[in-house]
Amino acid sequence: MTGPESPYALRPATAAEIDYIRNLNAEMWAKDLSVETYHERERTIGSTTLTRNGGIRSWVLVNPNSDRPNDILSSCETIRKHTLISRPPAPGTKEARVSEADAQGIGSVFTPKEHRGRGYAGILMALLKEKLMRENEEGFSVLYSDIGKKFYAKHGWMPHASAHIEFPVDGAGPVEDVRYLHSSDLHALCDKDVQALRQKLRKPESHTRVTFLPDWKTMEWHHAREEFVAPHARPNMRKKPENKGAISADGKRWIIWNRDFMGDEPTLYILRVANMSEGQDPMEGVREISKLFKAALNEAKKWGLEKVVLWNPDDETIEAAKRVSSGKVEYVERDTDSIPSLMMHTGESGMEYIEWLGNEKYVST
Ligand SMILES: CC(C)(COP(=O)(O)OP(=O)(O)OC[C@H]1O[C@@H](n2cnc3c(N)ncnc32)[C@H](O)[C@@H]1OP(=O)(O)O)[C@@H](O)C(=O)NCCC(=O)NCCS
Repeated sequence: MTGPESPYALRPATAAEIDYIRNLNAEMWAKDLSVETYHERERTIGSTTLTRNGGIRSWVLVNPNSDRPNDILSSCETIRKHTLISRPPAPGTKEARVSEADAQGIGSVFTPKEHRGRGYAGILMALLKEKLMRENEEGFSVLYSDIGKKFYAKHGWMPHASAHIEFPVDGAGPVEDVRYLHSSDLHALCDKDVQALRQKLRKPESHTRVTFLPDWKTMEWHHAREEFVAPHARPNMRKKPENKGAISADGKRWIIWNRDFMGDEPTLYILRVANMSEGQDPMEGVREISKLFKAALNEAKKWGLEKVVLWNPDDETIEAAKRVSSGKVEYVERDTDSIPSLMMHTGESGMEYIEWLGNEKYVST
């Protein structure tokens, strides 16, 4: 129940409320970490460039008119991200209209167990939608649904492509003609990638395109997370995970990854595949990407990870994955978990209207 008569309110959570919610949702999201370490991880990644100074906000749904006005009925977080929107050329012009916009990534939607099944997450999403649209009517917001495609679509966040490929780590072998990337390499490379995306979005199309910037601070967030977890998950390694990706000898293609040590199948995620050799012979492209994937496999093996995962791959990357894994690539269409779901605050919606460039793992913070 929302609208002027609604007794419910969505407000920023206090520091004590954030701790309280994390104590409850640790059961879902702490995985192999102790509750205390989970709190510490969230504080650590909350203080990176992307999230500090209001970059991340926590929200709670309460009923101020009830006899327990501060009882938390449902909760979530939002993270501010930088994006580009490209609209078709104005009449009589030839260039697409590219604008920068802040977008919000919504995460950690959580209802305490005793309040579930009473529509509170639905009310939270409806109020959040109003708030985000008011704050930024030209922008958009995104979330990754772990409860299928229906619930969030009902509230306006429409599902987008949710495929990935995965291949096992047993195919690791020698790495040739590539260089591992370290944190210190990423600033300049991410800037280059963002510049190239900006150029791409200037080309006119008849539909709206959006992209989240694969910028350095987004990668820093992912890497702060793996660096925090590594000593807990792999105490024997006694060092930080230094290699953050790999780049081809000519410097025109690179991949950036991070490690997820948690759960039954620890995974090396390829966060971003950057390509500055548009128009290259596809077979040459496949050869170059294969070399980068070999580096990823070696790194995954070194850190005791079981598979490599890449979201929404193109044909060249699929072919390269087949090569390095002796054909043991699985193509998966996710229909319940991590469904990228996007809402334009202008009202346009759905994959038929909005093309999402770079719908890759780096966006999912
Ligand atoms: C998912 C969750 C937030 C729902 O909270 P809630 O307050 O009980 O939700 P609501 O009562 O508003 O109902 C939400 C809708 O989602 C559906 N739903 C809830 N859990 C679901 C699940 N695991 N899979 C699919 N659908 C689910 C409900 O059936 C309901 O559908 P309806 O709107 O058609 O009736 C809550 O169960 C929770 O905190 N779960 C643990 C954390 C989690 O999984 N968060 C979601 C991350 S994307």
